[in-house]
Amino acid sequence: MNTKAKLSEVLDAMDFQTHEHRSLLNRKTGEVVTLMEEEIRAAEDDEPLEDYPDWQRTSIKLAQEMLENEEDFVDLPSQFDVHEYDIMERFCFSVEDEETSRALCSSIKGRGAFRRFKDKIHQFGIAEQWYAYRDQALKEIAVAWCEANEIPYVDDCKPALKVKRPPETEKALQYEELLAQLRGLLEGERDFIANAANFAALVFHALPDVSWAGVYRFREGELLLGPFQGKPACTRIPPEKGVCGKAANRLETIVVENVHEFPGHIACDSASNSEIVVPIITEGRLIGVLDLDSTAFDRFDAEDQAGLEKLVEVFLEATDVGDE
Ligand code: SME
Repeated sequence: MNTKAKLSEVLDAMDFQTHEHRSLLNRKTGEVVTLMEEEIRAAEDDEPLEDYPDWQRTSIKLAQEMLENEEDFVDLPSQFDVHEYDIMERFCFSVEDEETSRALCSSIKGRGAFRRFKDKIHQFGIAEQWYAYRDQALKEIAVAWCEANEIPYVDDCKPALKVKRPPETEKALQYEELLAQLRGLLEGERDFIANAANFAALVFHALPDVSWAGVYRFREGELLLGPFQGKPACTRIPPEKGVCGKAANRLETIVVENVHEFPGHIACDSASNSEIVVPIITEGRLIGVLDLDSTAFDRFDAEDQAGLEKLVEVFLEATDVGDE
């Protein structure tokens, strides 16, 4: 082993656990790799790389390397090694205020324990305290795991709150995955049109119930249609017009539950019932907007807004926006 494992990377991977992923540490390099089961299967079956999109090829190659040198790789502690329930129970007992502690302890009895516990910690205003406690508990597990596997490590995760928060819902988790996919997809290319095209295609195909997804570029004072997926759309939107023009004007995201009630909504597709528009802004300059439509009413909520705004940030980091 040449390099020490970084505790923060081990913890991030432990936090990001799903049934579809496997995280391993490469003893030789100290690197943590997270692979999708699908990618490992593709490597095992020696499936042709051409059958997979670019962003998955790197991971499949990594999976091949892992399978060829299996003795160098150690599986990170899994969901089964991390007894989330025990950590939660210990926390409930550790809370100093007796009444709060008692209420927490009874909230985690029986089915739906995690949900009720989450509600309670928010209600009591001790969510931060819980996350700090959980981070510490996970860190202890990570350290014990490194020691048991004779893996030298460096503790690079101070202050304690540097450890990433776990996504709280399925939707948040899906956006976390999409962020990683978008980063991979845009890697190595900085052209605006090429990246916007892949960005639109990724969200259109990955998110459920989306009938249109695309980018409008801000050009000479109006919004000009850019790469998109879905039915043909109007090409130019003047400032202040429609949901797109309003979001561009206000420089903030607009979520519309029912487009028929939105004054000035531009109906490109009569089947569309709800919409979200996220402005694309860099250094205070409006570059364009990301627009998503759905045939479902009330399709987009605050979590979609947070997820899509983060995706726009990743898009901007990976893309040259020019200076027009
Ligand atoms: N509905 C949008 C126009 C663009 S299309 O939905 C693709 C709006 O009101 O701005």
